[in-house]
Amino acid sequence: MKKIVIAIDGHSSCGKSTMAKELAKQIGYTYIDSGAMYRAVTLFCLQKGFFVNDSLNLETLKREIVNISITFVNNPLTGKADTYLNGQNVEKEIRSMAVAEKVSPVAAVGFVREALVRQQQALGAEKGIVMDGRDIGTVVFPNAELKIFVTASPEIRAQRRLAELTAKGEPATFEAVLHNLTERDRIDSTRKDGPLKQAVDAIVLDNSNLTIAEQNRQLLAVFNETSQC
Ligand code: CDP
Repeated sequence: MKKIVIAIDGHSSCGKSTMAKELAKQIGYTYIDSGAMYRAVTLFCLQKGFFVNDSLNLETLKREIVNISITFVNNPLTGKADTYLNGQNVEKEIRSMAVAEKVSPVAAVGFVREALVRQQQALGAEKGIVMDGRDIGTVVFPNAELKIFVTASPEIRAQRRLAELTAKGEPATFEAVLHNLTERDRIDSTRKDGPLKQAVDAIVLDNSNLTIAEQNRQLLAVFNETSQC
């Protein structure tokens, strides 16, 4: 069967990566978490002190961006790929609230997007990939054979993300998580470069009232239909 590109875009914290990972596993494709790449650049900015009084020093970041290497390495303990920043495993740090609070402004910077989109396109050049993000079906792979746009109500998304953070032992409140995801959606949807937008040919999946198993079944059914065409 010929391999295709599957683009999964949508709002913050609506379970895109859970469904993308599961689909990739079931069909033997590679999963790429494009959000992890923006999160890794953000962590780099925080570690290097590029934020001064909440504002990002763009000149320094522009000069230093060539020194950022992001790779994905399979973790035999979890069976999933971990994100590495300049050779360091940063999988845990990039999921923190500290990174979540700064990632959308970093992801709105044109030269950051240009650099990461180029890497994402190279990762998908051979097809057989499932990539999730905000602009995958519109900018990174506008010719992707299958495009899904995922959404869910903000309250349900905040509840799910809070449970995830709590399970990892990171203290957070429902209000802070809800505020973070609605603010990220606002910045992501209104930026000039690669805004969060539903591709005209995307299939919409609202998973507010779906279990993980149900959403995975729906996704697999859509994949089977598309890949037979
Ligand atoms: O998992 P969650 O929905 O919280 O977000 P993520 O996929 O890890 O993405 C984190 C942030 O990276 C988003 O809020 C966007 O600001 C940015 N992002 C982006 O701009 N473009 C992408 N293709 C993926 C993520």
